[in-house]
Amino acid sequence: MSHEGDGKALSTRLIHAEKPDGKSFVSLAVPTYRGSTVVFPTLEDLDHPREGQYRYGLHGSPTHRALTDRLAEIEGARHVQLAPSGLAAIALTFLSFLRSGNHLLVPKSSYGPTVDLANGLLADLGVETELYDPMVGGNIASLIRDNTALVWSESPGSISMEFQDVPAISAAARAKGVPVAIDNTYGAGVLFDAFAAGCDVSVQALTKYQAGHSDVLMGSVATRDEQLGKKIQRAAMLLGFGVSPDDCSLVLRGLKTFELRLRHLGESTLKVAAWLSRREEVTAVLHPAFSDCPGHDVWKRDWTGSASLFSVIFGSWSRQQVVTFVEALKLFGIGFSWGGANSLAITYHDLDRPSAELGPLLVRLNIGLEDPADLIADLEQALAQASSL
Ligand SMILES: Cc1ncc(COP(=O)(O)O)c(C=O)c1O
Repeated sequence: MSHEGDGKALSTRLIHAEKPDGKSFVSLAVPTYRGSTVVFPTLEDLDHPREGQYRYGLHGSPTHRALTDRLAEIEGARHVQLAPSGLAAIALTFLSFLRSGNHLLVPKSSYGPTVDLANGLLADLGVETELYDPMVGGNIASLIRDNTALVWSESPGSISMEFQDVPAISAAARAKGVPVAIDNTYGAGVLFDAFAAGCDVSVQALTKYQAGHSDVLMGSVATRDEQLGKKIQRAAMLLGFGVSPDDCSLVLRGLKTFELRLRHLGESTLKVAAWLSRREEVTAVLHPAFSDCPGHDVWKRDWTGSASLFSVIFGSWSRQQVVTFVEALKLFGIGFSWGGANSLAITYHDLDRPSAELGPLLVRLNIGLEDPADLIADLEQALAQASSL
């Protein structure tokens, strides 16, 4: 097959065809720059990269940079490192700070896989983890040892919703020269200012509110300190942690409605929680706007709002009634994660928080973007089914 051309074979011409001129197509969306290889004009450029120069797809593209710039703006951070999931962002933080022989403090109420990582891989690497009472406040000082290399915080605690006194914890850690990192996913960098509260690192599972549609996994590690940011970036590069530009573009799309969704979810969730708090089947509503919630006063002092997650305890029910209630819900899916458009419900048969007796009688709800009146009607019919057992 022969065509007009510059004498080169079709295979060569297809590979070296001119790229389209993107400058004349002005979209409202950030373009998705795909690429593993990034080409350099000269070997000199390759050997002596300029500050901020792109070098390899694994380490970012303009799409990645657009996302990290926006995330930095949300959290008031100077450096944001992306990771393939929220859990990967937690692991990256641990691996940036912890070495064999170090001591790590983690709240007992942390996200289960965080505790598993600390007690599993980190223990194998020679890091000793001590689980602490999430309501410890400034008394964390008495737990800090000479070899404590990191204080981890998660506020609120996963499932049992303990709001920690983060300013008191950070002040105590800072006085002893120990860095503090927080899983700030519930606050999303908007409802709680981790840096103003004295944290050195704020970790997000972007999978939740930033992505917002239950269709992408990603995490971020944000810092205000340039040196610390470089240390985390270096660990990510050594570990080969990268995220796809397509996923970045989904999170960038989510960010356009992020603030509106978060505000709306907060309002709807409050309506549903208030309705449940008036039901006689409910023993406690672990939502920060209610006094049942551990750290309610700290939340009023330090937070600007609440999000879509809360838990309810049915203290006088049997475990079977709890299971029937969750399975009778029609608009709430049964599943992990949260922060998307869909409402979710989950319960754990072996949860030991707030106590071994009450843990299995706790139901965690994630309120989605459905109309709260429809969700309340659904909860009402499921309560009736469970109560009739
Ligand atoms: C508080 C918290 N942190 C981190 C994660 C992990 O996020 P990912 O699912 O993106 O790994 C989760 C997931 O449910 C979570 O609830």
